[in-house]
Amino acid sequence: MSISDADIRNDINDPDRIMQLAEFNSNPEELIHAVTDSSEAIFTWNYEKGERAKLDKLYEKAKTSQWNAQTDLDWSIDVDPYTALGVLAEGGDNGYYEAPESPFHHFGDKEWSEFTYQSFAWRMSQFLHGEQGALLCTAKIVETVPWIDAKYYAATQVVDEARHVEVFAKYLDEKIGTEYPISPHLRLLLDDIITDNRWDMTYLGMQIMVEGLALAAFGFMHQFADDPLLVKMLRYVMSDEARHVAFGVLSLQELYPQMTQAEIQERQEFAFEAGLRMRDRFLQQEVWDRMGVNVREAVKYQLAAPAEFKQFQALLFSKIVPNCKKLGLLDAGDGWLRKRFEEIEVIQFEDWADTTEEYSDLDQVAADRNAEPAPAG
Ligand SMILES: [Fe+2]
Ligand SMILES: [Fe+2]
Repeated sequence: MSISDADIRNDINDPDRIMQLAEFNSNPEELIHAVTDSSEAIFTWNYEKGERAKLDKLYEKAKTSQWNAQTDLDWSIDVDPYTALGVLAEGGDNGYYEAPESPFHHFGDKEWSEFTYQSFAWRMSQFLHGEQGALLCTAKIVETVPWIDAKYYAATQVVDEARHVEVFAKYLDEKIGTEYPISPHLRLLLDDIITDNRWDMTYLGMQIMVEGLALAAFGFMHQFADDPLLVKMLRYVMSDEARHVAFGVLSLQELYPQMTQAEIQERQEFAFEAGLRMRDRFLQQEVWDRMGVNVREAVKYQLAAPAEFKQFQALLFSKIVPNCKKLGLLDAGDGWLRKRFEEIEVIQFEDWADTTEEYSDLDQVAADRNAEPAPAG
């Protein structure tokens, strides 16, 4: 009954499958998007703080690592959105995209510069929408998780996510000057995560997959960014995201060993579908459309690119894969998820650092505070 590995492989890289979804955003003007959430809200009468020591430690850490989006960032800095991301977004610097058969062959410096700007706006817009997804998912976790230490921690994450939505919205509005609606791939993924009524699926979809990808993407952008406002903003957001991913891993680590093989298989499939949707959305269909490029051709050409031109796409999985391994999802059963990650060429990250301890190293707020000179007098 199951589909063969070859079928899955063909489907993964089928431009028509990807395009079907890209055309699904029939109403980009909508202001309100409602998703039915049928989960139970769970009270617990066990108020024993610290019963889950690692979550308790994370909660205490979160309380002292808060920052203020309005006053800790210097919004007076002038930003040139054509160069703010540095070399990362310069699409024109490699042969594959300039080859005669490339759908971008006709691009000159002017077009690549415009692409750099549009791609930056698109990326930051998707992060904005993803941050709102995290805000809603984490509010949902406060309601649905049965452990008091997890409810406490998740409440701090709600504040973090509000701050993230705030900074991305402000940066787009004041420094970039154009934005994009949510990509249909991301919207469908967020809808799926919210709709699922099993509380651990919210964690897997949001904390492990979406936030794992965001943490890797922010890290990569942070390395290349030229704008000091963006550098500091990304660094601060990363401090928070590292805690969020750790929250996911620590919580699911307790739960998964109690599950049956059939239940774990469902989690593997959920993780892979989420991963695939995220890879598909990073093909930037909406940007190509705005640039007047045939979107299907652009998707097809990018999918066929040699690995060295897909490093950014692959790096997006550099936190997800080790965290899935740590949770046992990679090799459970017959290693179903390992095979899928091999097919989308991201398995090479399996032994990179997982995120359970990394959050302390990434805490920039604490580092800044320690670096401040002692008050005089
Ligand atoms: Fe966030
Ligand atoms: Fe987050």
